[in-house]
Amino acid sequence: MGDSERGTDPAIAGLVSSARAAAELAHAPYSGFRVGAAVLGATGVHTAANVENASYGLSLCAERAALSRALAEGDGEGIRAIAVACVDAAPDSPLGEVMPCGACRQWLAELAPKADVHIATADGGVRTFTVDDLLPHAFVLRRG
Ligand code: THU
Repeated sequence: MGDSERGTDPAIAGLVSSARAAAELAHAPYSGFRVGAAVLGATGVHTAANVENASYGLSLCAERAALSRALAEGDGEGIRAIAVACVDAAPDSPLGEVMPCGACRQWLAELAPKADVHIATADGGVRTFTVDDLLPHAFVLRRG
């Protein structure tokens, strides 16, 4: 836990810790940039890390892996929060280096629109966003 993380709501700090732990299991041999994500659903926490591929464009981000896992484990409805930790970001990294990419924001907008998004910042703190903060006017498809 970093200095500015102390004083954070213990539930949020716990979710961020789970994201950090998940990052240790990343498969990131190409970028060397390990990311962990922890999704809080109605039944529990679902974690995952980024999974890269020698065909670089096929790499999967931690956030989408964790959202997929939550759905696969039957926890797709009512996702409450997600924490993201980029454990290899340098301490002086700008916020943008630890934020979810555009594709992950679109996934969040569809699968976890009401979730709080807790970002572990490079200086050891936590910043919290709504999904609408991250992707205003998200693309949605009207069906039926
Ligand atoms: N990455 C994530 O896991 N989440 C994001 O939102 C941004 C980027 C991963 C993809 C790749 O494995 C590595 O970080 C460097 O881009």
